[in-house]
Amino acid sequence: EAPPSAGVPPAGTPAHARMRADLCQAALSPANDQSLAAERRGRKQEELAMKLFIDDAHLDAIKRLLAVYPIDGVTTNPSILAKVGGNPVEVLHAIRAAIGNDRLLFVQAVPTDAEGMLRDARAIVRAFGKNTVVKIPSIPAGFQAIRALRDEGIHTCGTVVYTPLQAYLAAKAGADYVAPYVNRIDNMGYDGVAVVKEIQDILTKNDLLAEVLAASFKNSQQVLTLCAYGIGS
Ligand code: G3P
Repeated sequence: EAPPSAGVPPAGTPAHARMRADLCQAALSPANDQSLAAERRGRKQEELAMKLFIDDAHLDAIKRLLAVYPIDGVTTNPSILAKVGGNPVEVLHAIRAAIGNDRLLFVQAVPTDAEGMLRDARAIVRAFGKNTVVKIPSIPAGFQAIRALRDEGIHTCGTVVYTPLQAYLAAKAGADYVAPYVNRIDNMGYDGVAVVKEIQDILTKNDLLAEVLAASFKNSQQVLTLCAYGIGS
């Protein structure tokens, strides 16, 4: 099963725009009032909306947020897991149990060489199931690993993205997601939200299917601005 949603093209792609236009067209047709209502309640429209992920590994926080918000999964990385303490593998198993098998869990490969990333990625998917996305740093070894993992059918996220070029290369190598770090880009003296918009434009104009998963937010306005722009996650 292909994350993020079987049958729904990634946000920002022409196919996604067509599907959204079809839904809007159906919505405008008076003859379709009933089917429109059903469609609005149905999964399809929800799957077209920007996804929300919890970027935290504290189990209490995850359970509290899951109970209230329409959450699509949990994203982690080594520093997020270090903040929780304990055995990271046990923490990740507990998160998988809490979110169920259908939501996405993002787990980062730790090695910095391509072979090591491949080994880690295979082990991660074996341990945490098919709806697990392996985060791979968007560095040269990472692009190599992303490409090999794409060929093995393992889903990846090109992470630690600071520049549009990194995002383009990760997407072209076959990443399912690319993850720009908004606040950290701001802290380097650039405009994080503007960089994410540029990344979305590059993916859309190049028909690249990777979904933008923006991370490292510092406020809700940044999230809302990018939601209005139509990024995927
Ligand atoms: O996924 C990690 C990313 O969100 C980093 O966040 O707040 O440490 O910049 P932060």
